[in-house]
Amino acid sequence: MQEIRKAIRDKYAEVSISAEGKFQYPTGKDGAKALGYDSSIIETAYTKFFESTCGVGNPFSLGNIRPGDAVLDFGCGTGFDMFVASKLVGESGLVCGIDLTENMVVRAKENLALAGITNFEIKKVDSETIPYDDRSFDVVISNGVINLSPRKAISFAEIYRVLKPGGRLQFADVVLVNELPASLVGSAEAWSQ
Ligand SMILES: C[S@@+](CC[C@H](N)C(=O)[O-])C[C@H]1O[C@@H](n2cnc3c(N)ncnc32)[C@H](O)[C@@H]1O
Repeated sequence: MQEIRKAIRDKYAEVSISAEGKFQYPTGKDGAKALGYDSSIIETAYTKFFESTCGVGNPFSLGNIRPGDAVLDFGCGTGFDMFVASKLVGESGLVCGIDLTENMVVRAKENLALAGITNFEIKKVDSETIPYDDRSFDVVISNGVINLSPRKAISFAEIYRVLKPGGRLQFADVVLVNELPASLVGSAEAWSQ
């Protein structure tokens, strides 16, 4: 478990500096455009948001987020999805993020502050445990994160614990379609790819 978490942190510490060339799919601004994010929001986001953005889908395409909602981004990276959520919830809402990687947290805080957003908080986590009370959020979003969790059942249980009754999980992720080559089975580095 610790070996997997270390491999994830090592990989995403590098991604937090730049995602360029580190994934087999488009990342950054090109990735956001390809995934169908609202172009008016893309154009208002600082370039810095896109340096490390490496989501695999568009959680906002799965349901409406309303003004005043409390939203949690599970694995927020450097904060682009939190920025999008902040535009949807407005000043009466709240946007929270958690991430396993220290430099993702540092950069997300910088990026959101630079964008003038004040109704956000971001916490670094060390496990699947979500550091919020039961029934705190209207929506949990997540983008390319749950596949990395070595304890997925606990991740889902934690997400459902912090959702309010009637709340929603809107997540994008990757799944294995074919068997892994034998050379990659058991590789902590392959886990974090
Ligand atoms: C593929 S990146 C996606 C980042 C961001 N969601 C985006 O769209 O750019 C995966 C992120 O999940 C974080 N992560 C991995 N496991 C996590 C966990 N159990 N809890 C919180 N964050 C986690 C990593 O540190 C990394 O920032």
